[in-house]
Amino acid sequence: MGCCNRRCGLIAGAVFGAVVAILGGVLIPLGNSIIEGTVKKEAVIEPGTTAFDNWNATGAMVYRQFWFLEVKNPTEIVQNGATPVVREKGPYTYRTRYLPKENITFNPNNTVSFLLPFGAIFEPSMSVGSEEDKVVSLNLAVAGAYSMVPPGLHFILQNMIKSSNSSLFHSRTVKELLWGYPDPMLNGNVGLFYPYNGTSDGPYNVFTGEDDISKVGIIDRWRGERSLSFWDDKYCDMINGTDASSFPPFVDKKKPLFFFSSDICRSVSASFSESLNLKGIEVYRYTLLPSTLAAPVDNPDNHCYCRDKKTTKNCTVAGVLDTSSCREGKPVYISLPHFLYGSPSLRKDVLGLNPVEEHHMTFLDVEPTTGFTLRFAKRIQVNMMYGPSKVITLLNKVKDYTVFPVVWLNETAVLDDETADMFKEELVSRIQLLETVQQVLLGSGLYYFFCSYHCNIKTQSGIYKMKSKRRLFP
Ligand SMILES: *[C@@H]1O[C@H](CO)[C@@H](O)[C@H](O)[C@H]1NC(C)=O
Ligand SMILES: *[C@@H]1O[C@H](CO)[C@@H](O)[C@H](O)[C@H]1NC(C)=O
Ligand SMILES: *[C@@H]1O[C@H](CO)[C@@H](O)[C@H](O)[C@H]1NC(C)=O
Ligand SMILES: *[C@@H]1O[C@H](CO)[C@@H](O)[C@H](O)[C@H]1NC(C)=O
Ligand SMILES: *[C@@H]1O[C@H](CO)[C@@H](O)[C@H](O)[C@H]1NC(C)=O
Ligand SMILES: *[C@@H]1O[C@H](CO)[C@@H](O)[C@H](O)[C@H]1NC(C)=O
Ligand SMILES: *[C@@H]1O[C@H](CO)[C@@H](O)[C@H](O)[C@H]1NC(C)=O
Ligand SMILES: *[C@@H]1O[C@H](CO)[C@@H](O)[C@H](O)[C@H]1NC(C)=O
Repeated sequence: MGCCNRRCGLIAGAVFGAVVAILGGVLIPLGNSIIEGTVKKEAVIEPGTTAFDNWNATGAMVYRQFWFLEVKNPTEIVQNGATPVVREKGPYTYRTRYLPKENITFNPNNTVSFLLPFGAIFEPSMSVGSEEDKVVSLNLAVAGAYSMVPPGLHFILQNMIKSSNSSLFHSRTVKELLWGYPDPMLNGNVGLFYPYNGTSDGPYNVFTGEDDISKVGIIDRWRGERSLSFWDDKYCDMINGTDASSFPPFVDKKKPLFFFSSDICRSVSASFSESLNLKGIEVYRYTLLPSTLAAPVDNPDNHCYCRDKKTTKNCTVAGVLDTSSCREGKPVYISLPHFLYGSPSLRKDVLGLNPVEEHHMTFLDVEPTTGFTLRFAKRIQVNMMYGPSKVITLLNKVKDYTVFPVVWLNETAVLDDETADMFKEELVSRIQLLETVQQVLLGSGLYYFFCSYHCNIKTQSGIYKMKSKRRLFP
């Protein structure tokens, strides 16, 4: 008993320190596996998980804001062949993606199928005017028909234009342009997003991640198929990755993220650009590379996306994607707003555009541990096309094929404060707590161990006894 003098105490301290340090060290892999286990469990898409709740009905508000490119000189274009001048008008804001997924069916092979119903509700408080505001814009029916009718049949089109008193540009309301109106020339409904209400995207079939978490959210089939049929090419027809609302957990910033977007009828990849703090949560910002819509001469991968030789000057024009093959032939050309990253010729053919990367690029902010997309801005521009014709009077003076911007949009969502707090509590703080505990244990353990060991030696040699003591118990 009497043996437990100072020396004995120091040895006990060293042993205790070593044990604590080892505990801290053991906790690192243990803690990591706890985190990993939790994330794996919560990221699977099945009833009861965090991922499922988010996935079933998006908590965040999703807005689609439209900026129209209003034509300032419609008469001069038609009568004198003047270069069109446009000016931005907007935003006109709609709430979208508020409808929950439909027909959710879990399949026995760890996939789930569902439909994404479309819906849009006007949000006057976030708009510059009402849905009834008029915009002077390209006549979608005339431009559409021009793209679809071969030159030999232009005389028919000329007759239709004359008898319906149509013009190349006309004034329509925001609501009409977006959601459709009966057109006198085509005797049918025309609109940039017509039909919308009551229609849906999909069906999608995606992996739940139950058997393999690295596949969660990855699209297995879209509209029943494993690949697209729009581009007549194995590469361009690939359906890659997720729908961008989430990605498999444990995101590696060295690798690009792949996703499929039905708006642009193709898969794209986004690359890591920076780490940001979003409401106290660390997120990785991913952006589309400028080469995404490059001309095939600059990005050979894009050869199969060039389908329209007229407007792309034999595939040398960058920044425009002809999506007619995935819109039942409707000649819709997708680009980035203001032809960001597009060929300068596009901005010479239509004046008044001014691309600014910050405002016109697309980005996703992904939380790296869970793979959830916590904020995004998807920005695209919808264009139509017209060109010269000797037969169609309206187009007599037009000199060249013109990709004409009608509207650009910014679809955005940010997780709300409540979800952010929950997220931090559920995940970030838990991870931080584990990490702190690990570090404190490891640190104090090592301190105890080395200090006791040190003191022990000093005690044995009988020097600096008091000093050591003071150092050990400050
Ligand atoms: C999915 O969301 C809908 C609409 O919010 C809700 O009615 C339904 O109960 C949810 N399903 C599950 C399994 O939570
Ligand atoms: C979705 O479910 C409804 C009702 O069960 C059904 O009428 C409809 O055909 C389904 N839609 C698809 C595309 O499967
Ligand atoms: C899973 O099952 C669905 C529905 O039966 C089927 O369409 C899909 O091809 C299957 N996917 C895989 C990866 O087996
Ligand atoms: C689409 O549906 C929403 C919600 O019911 C409604 O507010 C909106 O006016 C509809 N839009 C059109 C173009 O019918
Ligand atoms: C034809 O359209 C022009 C302007 O677009 C209008 O001034 C004119 O009255 C219309 N004529 C008829 C017959 O509708
Ligand atoms: C699809 O993903 C593969 C890698 O899995 C990639 O090599 C390819 O470029 C992607 N295709 C498209 C069209 O993005
Ligand atoms: C495109 O290529 C075709 C055939 O190679 C050629 O006749 C035509 O002049 C080219 N057009 C342009 C705009 O370069
Ligand atoms: C969408 O992007 C535009 C351009 O940067 C910006 O003015 C607008 O505020 C954004 N919308 C939202 C809801 O953040």
